[in-house]
Amino acid sequence: MKITGIGHNAIKVLDMEKALDFYCSAVGMTKAFELSKDGLPNIVYVKIAPNNFVELFYGAVKDRDINYAPDQIGYHHWCVNVTNLQALRDRIFARGYIKEEQQPKVTKTGGKNMWIHDPDGNAFEILQPGPDSAYNGEDRLLGIGHVGYACSNAPGSAAFYTDMLGLKLIRTIDRDGKPWLSYIAVQDSPDGREGSGGQEIELFWGGKKTRPNTWQSYGGTHLCLTCDDVPNFVEELRRKGQPILIETKVGGDKNTQAWIEDPDGNRIELMQMHPDSPQAKA
Ligand SMILES: [Fe+2]
Ligand SMILES: [Fe+2]
Repeated sequence: MKITGIGHNAIKVLDMEKALDFYCSAVGMTKAFELSKDGLPNIVYVKIAPNNFVELFYGAVKDRDINYAPDQIGYHHWCVNVTNLQALRDRIFARGYIKEEQQPKVTKTGGKNMWIHDPDGNAFEILQPGPDSAYNGEDRLLGIGHVGYACSNAPGSAAFYTDMLGLKLIRTIDRDGKPWLSYIAVQDSPDGREGSGGQEIELFWGGKKTRPNTWQSYGGTHLCLTCDDVPNFVEELRRKGQPILIETKVGGDKNTQAWIEDPDGNRIELMQMHPDSPQAKA
């Protein structure tokens, strides 16, 4: 049993209408279905690619002034890999979300990326893994490329993701002569296709400021990692000494899930998708 990919990123939003306009009308994701809780709207599931979603939660509390800050411990930013960054950038520009001068930049690995902020100020990166010719101009979203966290103790977090969860540390890069960013590989590519870029967790070194991170806090609220056998994976985690935040259960969506936290208290949902779940059918 093992982690097989990033299933979804989950964000608590302050204004659902604005969030849907940004992620669906501008970025081109698709509103898939909604789940309610105790008779109230709870989550809007937005599809990025097959088996790849962003969960937008109602009911967020704005419990801090700034959503994104690079040295704020915890959720940092997320990134969706795309096949035609320029076309996507132009659509987002046409919807009024970015300024004329905001254009893609070439990355160190030969791809192109740009950073924008969603209506709640969540940092959102879009990345076209290079080279250009890989996609022949086709224009679609490949899926979640990575989710980043700023860590109070990056080596400790890296040890959790590798020793505890069984993922692989692929590299640590420096900035200004100091370790800056450690990459944990989750899956080879978001759409399972060679050349579409990796699926990773990015661990930023040197997180300093704490911020509220309750179930109601706005911004990134949890990361879902898909797993081929949640019950047995959880038992193995327990044997290795990992506290289980929420024990294995079958959700209303038929998927088997369990929850844990990383060393900085970032919530991780482990999910085993049921073939009849709304996610599998979306
Ligand atoms: Fe990134
Ligand atoms: Fe979730």
